[in-house]
Amino acid sequence: MRAAIVGAGGAIGSAVVKRFVDAGCWVMGIDISEEALDRAAELSERMVCDLMNDKQLIKLREKMEQQNVDCIITTHGIDGSAPLSELSEEFYEKVLNINTLGIYRLFRMALPLLKTAGGSFTIVISQAGLKPEANNAAYCASKYALSGWVRSISDYAAKEGVTVRGICPGCIGTPLYYSAQKQFAASIAMPLNEWLMKREQNIPLGRIASTAEIAECIWFLAQKNVRRPILLVPTGGETLV
Ligand SMILES: NC(=O)c1ccc[n+]([C@@H]2O[C@H](COP(=O)([O-])OP(=O)(O)OC[C@H]3O[C@@H](n4cnc5c(N)ncnc54)[C@H](O)[C@@H]3O)[C@@H](O)[C@H]2O)c1
Repeated sequence: MRAAIVGAGGAIGSAVVKRFVDAGCWVMGIDISEEALDRAAELSERMVCDLMNDKQLIKLREKMEQQNVDCIITTHGIDGSAPLSELSEEFYEKVLNINTLGIYRLFRMALPLLKTAGGSFTIVISQAGLKPEANNAAYCASKYALSGWVRSISDYAAKEGVTVRGICPGCIGTPLYYSAQKQFAASIAMPLNEWLMKREQNIPLGRIASTAEIAECIWFLAQKNVRRPILLVPTGGETLV
């Protein structure tokens, strides 16, 4: 596979890069942050790109075409947690642009390339795209939009020879996760440690996931011969579909 991974410098993104590199794939890392890309191991190619920037998106398409990319994975995103009383329109729009709209823009741009290659497009969503969370309305809205979008376009894309899949993981111990948990704990004036313990106790498996576990699931979903499921929900049992 020749894979392009967006958010490659993030916690989940760099684990996905490692999984694909270990399997012998050619891997291009894409991130909005040059500094973040420095953290991704052994990239064959790297590119700083903001999916909301037209010029950068065109450059990205050219690079993907030159390199015959046949597998695109989006692992980028931002924390959208905030109490409703503090959720500004600007912040809501930013969360929707980065977490949702940028993915549509990337897909639309890459569809001709993926059609030619018979390729796959895999999106990291979240269990927050299937189950509401208090103090997390913007994030949930951005992720619900993605889970609906994947389900509605996967059939159309399949007819064009392109596999579109989404993954909705539960809790994974990354900076994004801890940033949201801080908000949740503060909203009920609970010490963070106590909140984190409570959250883990509510996971039937008894622990949060590692980034390597989720990277393994993404590897599985990105295979062209994986026909089911359209959405994979690897949680510790706290969200079951
Ligand atoms: N951590 C969790 O518990 C968890 C659970 C379920 C789903 N997720 C989802 O997984 C994805 C990755 O989460 P993470 O915990 O690895 O976060 P992270 O903050 O470690 O990584 C996110 C990466 O995305 C990059 N990025 C941000 N905006 C971008 C943009 N516009 N264009 C390109 N790159 C951009 C950042 O620079 C960063 O490298 C997110 O979509 C998140 O919602 C996370």
